[in-house]
Amino acid sequence: MLQFDVITIFPELIQQAVSYGLLGKACEQNLLAVQAHDLRAFTEDKHRRVDDQPYGGGPGMVLQVEPVVRALEEITDETKKVRKILLSPRGEVFSQVKARDFTEYEQIILICGRYEGVDARVLSYVDEELSIGDYVLAGGEFASLVTLDAVARLLPGVVGDEASLAEESHSQNLLEYPHYTRPEVFRGQKVPDVLLSGHHQQIKEWRQAQAEGLTQERRPDLWKKSR
Ligand code: ADE
Repeated sequence: MLQFDVITIFPELIQQAVSYGLLGKACEQNLLAVQAHDLRAFTEDKHRRVDDQPYGGGPGMVLQVEPVVRALEEITDETKKVRKILLSPRGEVFSQVKARDFTEYEQIILICGRYEGVDARVLSYVDEELSIGDYVLAGGEFASLVTLDAVARLLPGVVGDEASLAEESHSQNLLEYPHYTRPEVFRGQKVPDVLLSGHHQQIKEWRQAQAEGLTQERRPDLWKKSR
């Protein structure tokens, strides 16, 4: 079973968020475990402060190295295959390939950055810095949840219908074709005839053409990779 440990100053946010939907069900069924750890529990400061002013001056506060490293050392399970990840906008960008790679671990520790940044000495205690995209969040919490969600649904048994994962990996690097369900007509918009035809081969070809068309139009970068 894959164990996620999240180091954060908002443990309730993480614990709450993973209690919903697919993630919540997967946790209940012990297909994965998520534990949020309060960074403030690892500081020896009597005011439980975890940040301080940057050496050299400048705006904002910096997350201190000490509580982070102490938390890492306490949480790491030496008997497991562990990946230690610092969420940060400077990291390598997250992807489906990375999500799949992460499923090979037994323990994944996600450190949520905060404030203007994290003391650079933390980097020598982690395996990688990971960004979820080219924008800056106020903290790593939502980035951790994105990572967790994307990895969890790839674990065996989490997505009920394995066929949907198989189809996804078959159509790697293509955007998904459009989906429809009842009603057949909504305010004058009709479901494409081919989907009502019952011709499985034609449906398959239509979906493939839609996926390819959308990808060429919207994501030329992905389209190049898919060829
Ligand atoms: N923390 C702040 N911005 C982030 C991002 N884009 N990805 C991961 N962690 C972050």
